[in-house]
Amino acid sequence: QNEPPIVPYWIPVIGSAITMGMDPIKFYRKYQQEYGNYFTFILLGRRMVTCLGSEGNNFVFNAKLANASAEAAYKSLTVPVFGKGVVYDVHNSVLMEQKKFVKAGLSNENLRAYVPMIEMETKNYFSRWNKKSDIQDVHKATAELIIMTASKCLLGEEVRSKLDESFAQIFHDLDGGFKPVNFLFEDLPLPSNKLRDQAHVKMRHFFMDIMKDRREKGITDRTDIMQYLTTHCQYKDGRKLSDEESAHIMIAMLMAGQHTSSTTTAWALLYLASQPNLFNELRKEQIEVFGSLDEPLTFDGIKKLTLHDNVVRESLRLRPPIFNVIRKVLRDLPIPGTQYVIPKDSYIQSILAISHRSEGYFENAETFNPNRWVDFDQNVKERDDDLVDYGFGVLHSASAKSPFLPFGAGRHRCIGEPFAYLQIKTIIAVFVRMFDLELYKNKFPECDFTTMIVQPKDPLVQYTRRDN
Ligand code: HEM
Repeated sequence: QNEPPIVPYWIPVIGSAITMGMDPIKFYRKYQQEYGNYFTFILLGRRMVTCLGSEGNNFVFNAKLANASAEAAYKSLTVPVFGKGVVYDVHNSVLMEQKKFVKAGLSNENLRAYVPMIEMETKNYFSRWNKKSDIQDVHKATAELIIMTASKCLLGEEVRSKLDESFAQIFHDLDGGFKPVNFLFEDLPLPSNKLRDQAHVKMRHFFMDIMKDRREKGITDRTDIMQYLTTHCQYKDGRKLSDEESAHIMIAMLMAGQHTSSTTTAWALLYLASQPNLFNELRKEQIEVFGSLDEPLTFDGIKKLTLHDNVVRESLRLRPPIFNVIRKVLRDLPIPGTQYVIPKDSYIQSILAISHRSEGYFENAETFNPNRWVDFDQNVKERDDDLVDYGFGVLHSASAKSPFLPFGAGRHRCIGEPFAYLQIKTIIAVFVRMFDLELYKNKFPECDFTTMIVQPKDPLVQYTRRDN
């Protein structure tokens, strides 16, 4: 059989893991130049077929269920963390229904209620940066803040109120199970996996106890996802979601949103710190929309902050938190338009970070330039019939052929995108009201590719408070 070319490697089992892991962008570009858009490398004994370009993205994202499976690729990592009966532990048709539940729960009406909550949490959090000027780790800050905002909005105020006590430790232990080694091997007897399993049980009970308590007290008026899942959701066959399933969906949302949103916010603030003049422009935009920087932020106002959007989009372009999207191939699979056939049990992957840096679509692709999106939107409107308008200012292509896919495409596309934008934009809007920022020693952090979500290494910034 004619499979895609295999990247040469020296150490039999490890394959290309080390060279790829050191600088994946360099690695993929080098072999794209050598072999074209399809090539295979060996990662700890697995065949990883890399599919690049818009055709490659389309091949991965729109693969038929019978040909390639996300659950077969992700379940060893996710099922112990999320729990049984949800996401990759169920047939794809059930996941599709569960995603619809969450999507409906993230209605505009609920998102509207989240803006003042996020504004307040952000102000409170950053009140601890109380010197006139100091050095801080910006990613540590966004990780701590996002878990507060996300839990308050999505999981409910009972969870938020426990964040400083028991819940934070449970989250920490559960999160410890979310690491690449668990993607590669099932059920490793690691101490961190034991803690993960204990934390999973505790978190499930924690959520289920709150559901029971709300039911007993007759609470039905909350805007969080817990409320939506427990009162409105029913499968097509008439079955209601069980409390256990609701709890597991909430865990999945927490894990799916936490690192993705906190790293994006951190990278966005770091890029802003590298071009401090943007702070004035963002404040100017807010004054145009809200009248002054003292007015409370609102959902309708946040929608109109185009430059804020473009800062987030440009950060997602250069630092997509989900670097690659993977499926397991279930049968020998020909690649359309080529002579290649991918052997069964290989993995196919799309590398978002490579399309996002393609010069063919993005001029000076390596440069952070939020204003590029002004023209891009115009061009995309003319050439793309699949645009999604989330109704709060961001146009995104739903087509897997788009060069910009930070939220994926096809049946596994992200349902958290509207919430993620709203949350990140609101945090940035509050932040620029409170601070100016510069990079510490003018050094832009490098990427840490060893974690599930690409994080900044030593992300130090020097802040200056604007109000004292
Ligand atoms: C799926 C990115 C935030 C929930 C995805 C996928 C990507 C992605 C690339 C597709 C994965 C694949 O095809 O294998 C992001 C980014 C985020 C973000 C960049 C923030 C900046 C969130 C949030 C939530 C969420 C806040 C929950 C509220 C989900 C869910 C899926 C998903 C449920 C579907 C998984 C599937 O169908 O297989 N996300 N996400 N995400 N995301 Fe997000």
